[in-house]
Amino acid sequence: MYGPGGFYLRPEGPGGHFRTSVHASGLFAEAVARLLCRVDTALGRPPRLDFVDVGAGRGELVTGVLAALPAEVATRVRAYAVERAARPADLDDPRIEWTGGVPDGVTGLLFANEWLDNVPVDVVEVDPSGVPRRVLVRADGTESLGDPATGPDARWLARWWPLSDEPGLRAEPGAPRDAAWAAAVGRLTRGLAVAVDYGHARGDRPAFGTLTGFREGRECRAVPDGTCDITAHVALDACAEAGAGVVDGAGAVVEGAAGVAPRLLTQRDALRGLGVRGSRPPLALASSNPVGYLRRLSGAGEAAELTATGGLGDFGWLVQPVGVGIGVPAGLFVDVTDDEEQ
Ligand SMILES: C[S@@+](CC[C@H](N)C(=O)[O-])C[C@H]1O[C@@H](n2cnc3c(N)ncnc32)[C@H](O)[C@@H]1O
Repeated sequence: MYGPGGFYLRPEGPGGHFRTSVHASGLFAEAVARLLCRVDTALGRPPRLDFVDVGAGRGELVTGVLAALPAEVATRVRAYAVERAARPADLDDPRIEWTGGVPDGVTGLLFANEWLDNVPVDVVEVDPSGVPRRVLVRADGTESLGDPATGPDARWLARWWPLSDEPGLRAEPGAPRDAAWAAAVGRLTRGLAVAVDYGHARGDRPAFGTLTGFREGRECRAVPDGTCDITAHVALDACAEAGAGVVDGAGAVVEGAAGVAPRLLTQRDALRGLGVRGSRPPLALASSNPVGYLRRLSGAGEAAELTATGGLGDFGWLVQPVGVGIGVPAGLFVDVTDDEEQ
């Protein structure tokens, strides 16, 4: 996907092949901008506020966030698009720094929408004698079973995705994603790191894994020939623990990188807490705030898509505060948008 001419390096970008929340509605970027403002307040309005979009695609989210910020905040923001693909030729906003890696010493909000599902993982399958083995795949998609899973993969499976000896069961050991997330969180000095992805939790893992390909808007076989997206759902609970760092004897996260535990929310709850509502606004708002009323009415359909059960609303938001004593979700994900709009 990332080699010469690979899927993610093509000019059309991921948006040419599938719709993320970012493409579904501008309401998503507005909600992230609102979250950035709340983080700014929690940080005491620092002279420099960073917004880091990890896995930035073609810069759609960072562009939308900058456009939605109040001027007073926008003037203090340093915006980074972290991406393996080159900067798009038509992205000429000088406020956006295009970079291949997360900058160090971030103070602000790091946001990774559908990034972790593209961090490569192995696939493991239980063989006929009950032994979990790595699945090997050729560029034409032909699969065979290789060596037994050992080392970090085996340790990760035992902790997060225990397999019985039933032949054919599959798992996707997520140690590389845990490490990627922990490294990204480690770049924050103060602020909030958020990873948004489709995921699963211990005790509810899919029996045969989730490895899938996408091309031109359709699901396809996950063939590693560079012509399609290859994705697998994310064990966000494992990433949460890795990003937090401090775990008690029973394996529960007790402290984040700076003394605040991470939280997992659904996108439905996170976006509702940021003022994205799928329902019609109250009629009383029409007289008290006619402009706000009309805006919310026209956005109700898009909001419904972003928060839909069985769709984007089921995505997980892994929220990791660093160095700030802000309650999560209390404070950051409480819907006070009526007050903000007035
Ligand atoms: C599914 S797309 C999501 C794009 C965008 N965030 C959105 O929501 O529309 C994943 C993006 O992450 C990028 N990516 C994957 N691994 C990366 C890495 N290690 N560093 C930077 N970008 C990465 C890919 O090139 C791709 O553009």
